[in-house]
Amino acid sequence: MSRAIVAPEYGEPDVLQFVEVGTPAPGEGEVTIAVRAAGVNPADLKRLRGEFGRNEASLPLRLGSEIAGVVTAVGADAVGPAGPVAVGDEVIGFRVSGGYSEEVTVAAASVLPKPAGLSFEQGAGLLAVGVTAEHLLQAAAVGAGDRVIVHGASGGVGSIAVQLALLQGAVVVGTAGKAHQEAVRALGATPVEYGPGLEARIRAIFPGGADAALDTIGTDEAVDTSVALVDDRRRIVTINAFRRAAELGFKSLGSGPGADPGSAVRMAARLPLIELAGRGKLAVHVARTFPLAQAAGALEFVASGHPGGKVILLP
Ligand SMILES: NC(=O)c1ccc[n+]([C@@H]2O[C@H](COP(=O)([O-])OP(=O)(O)OC[C@H]3O[C@@H](n4cnc5c(N)ncnc54)[C@H](OP(=O)(O)O)[C@@H]3O)[C@@H](O)[C@H]2O)c1
Repeated sequence: MSRAIVAPEYGEPDVLQFVEVGTPAPGEGEVTIAVRAAGVNPADLKRLRGEFGRNEASLPLRLGSEIAGVVTAVGADAVGPAGPVAVGDEVIGFRVSGGYSEEVTVAAASVLPKPAGLSFEQGAGLLAVGVTAEHLLQAAAVGAGDRVIVHGASGGVGSIAVQLALLQGAVVVGTAGKAHQEAVRALGATPVEYGPGLEARIRAIFPGGADAALDTIGTDEAVDTSVALVDDRRRIVTINAFRRAAELGFKSLGSGPGADPGSAVRMAARLPLIELAGRGKLAVHVARTFPLAQAAGALEFVASGHPGGKVILLP
């Protein structure tokens, strides 16, 4: 038996329980992983709150879409995107279900090798945000010399989007709160504080406007600023402002209404992102770790909206 976090009902993090659960033996094409670190994402909180829909038949809910750990058992034909998976392999799992666990059995198709240069914590915090950031860049066709705005540059998705845009040769202005200005500068972007007057502050840096805007926030302020500064609406992309994207004719990505899920783009981005991070070209900043038993506290920290980096659970 191993232990896992479960939600017996939809609600706030205080409904979570840490209980004994069974881990099935791996079947064909599956592997069992001893979890060393599990990434916590805003999507986990939205799922817990029922914001992605409620289905009483899926209770108790098991949260967590990304993990890093060590393979303890493999079924027949356990082959992942990078090849066969073996007992003892240090791996990253994404997308998985129920990652807030000591042990999980998952499809080998979701299991990728963890480079030695990446810690378990960093490995568990890379892919959910990383594949979204890569999808944003591709949707906005970011390339060399582009002037790019990243709304939420201090966040999980935004900080990876900044780094990927810089690797493409773009020039980046990134919005963040006062406390995270230096963190955005350290990534290589020019930081700007969000809040009233945002458009003028960005225009002072990009007097001729910007070529693309990547919006991880979705506030009216982020949307209005993007529309004012970027002429080509096909190069404004949001992962949150679904209604306004439909109204104003720019792109939205993910699971919101009218959004492009981009599943193939996102799954194909996993190995290249791991390779970049393993070579030290892409930094995953872990803001805080919590023991697995304190998953509720970790989700409340994420709910603050200002975690300052990835939040990781340690079984
Ligand atoms: N559609 C999709 O496919 C998809 C995929 C992944 C994530 N998401 C969503 O995208 C959002 C960001 O995810 P994340 O993992 O990057 O979150 P995160 O790590 O918690 O980052 C939150 C970001 O929001 C900024 N922020 C907070 N309040 C703000 C405000 N009033 N105005 C402007 N910026 C503000 C924070 O800046 P400071 O901390 O500097 O204040 C920080 O940069 C979440 O809502 C998540 O659910 C969507």
